[in-house]
Amino acid sequence: MRTVDWHDCKVRMIDQKRIPWELVLVEFDNYQAVANAIFDMTVRGAPAIGAAAGFGLALAAQQSRAETLEQLLSDLEVAAKTLKDARPTAVNLAWAVDRLMAVACSGTYRHPDKLRDVLLVEAQRIADEDVEINKRMGANGADLIHDGDTVLHHCNTGALATVDYGTAIGVIRTAFEQGKKFHVLLDETRPRLQGARLSAWEMEQMGIPYDILPDTAAGYYMRRGEIKVVLLGADRIAANGDFANKIGTYQVAIMAKEHGIPFYSVAPTSTVDLSLKSGDEIPIEERDKSEVLAPFGHPITPPHFKARNPAFDVTPNKYLSGIVTENGIARPPFTESLRKLVEMSN
Ligand code: MRU
Repeated sequence: MRTVDWHDCKVRMIDQKRIPWELVLVEFDNYQAVANAIFDMTVRGAPAIGAAAGFGLALAAQQSRAETLEQLLSDLEVAAKTLKDARPTAVNLAWAVDRLMAVACSGTYRHPDKLRDVLLVEAQRIADEDVEINKRMGANGADLIHDGDTVLHHCNTGALATVDYGTAIGVIRTAFEQGKKFHVLLDETRPRLQGARLSAWEMEQMGIPYDILPDTAAGYYMRRGEIKVVLLGADRIAANGDFANKIGTYQVAIMAKEHGIPFYSVAPTSTVDLSLKSGDEIPIEERDKSEVLAPFGHPITPPHFKARNPAFDVTPNKYLSGIVTENGIARPPFTESLRKLVEMSN
């Protein structure tokens, strides 16, 4: 089952807010609802929100009553902005929307109905390619895991964060399918608990041995020498290799370096934003304080207590051992190696 799909003229997705308690599919028949599902994290994870936005824009084209190409393009501009504004950090979202808009504005398709058909084909292509790309990342990264290792993972980068298969968890999955015996430690990843809820649910499905860790426990296990490698995802990678990922990644990176533990990000080249020189330019989403004070509607403080809730942080490239992509592993210095891997996808 795919995390995001097109079904019966609607965008269909797994409601990730309800995992691990129930597996429910929800369907949307308008792009505004798709944008809201991205914002409220019904769908989340950089590649998954890219695919959802692609289908959302194809849906906007179907929704539009435009009878001329000019009118359809103007409706699409409005929808593209709404979808892109849903979440600012993961570049895959803007990347997917821009890819469809480039098709729309190419001048190749003069009839609105033809353009509607072509946009849906392109959105489907983005989703199909994502699965294939994830499997290639899995194959490229599997050698980073050895028999007997304990792997530390942060957030959720599995099938749920993508259309299917996963990025860092895709690497873990490939190594497991190769018959390697290893253990995975999952940071619970407050405040949305993607590690405890989503990654653990995926480990259960695949039968991979794991334990959930409080976010504060990783250093303890590193100091004891138990963790052999850190694998996690990325939401946006700047040209120099600095990268934004789920809040808490930066502190894991510093601890890994202190303990001499290899630290890898696994991400498709669509997550690389060569227009940004460094991570300082990556926009960081701040979410509502209620996610901290009352996770999933369960208050842990009175509602007037104060909190801050950055959804991502930026990790400087000096902490990275490498970046696993579908085209190979980029190694430091990243400005050169990343650009080469990105160009292979163009
Ligand atoms: O806020 P989220 O759950 O969308 O954040 C997800 C992450 O930070 C993932 O690590 C990242 O998107 C990579 S997913 C393959």
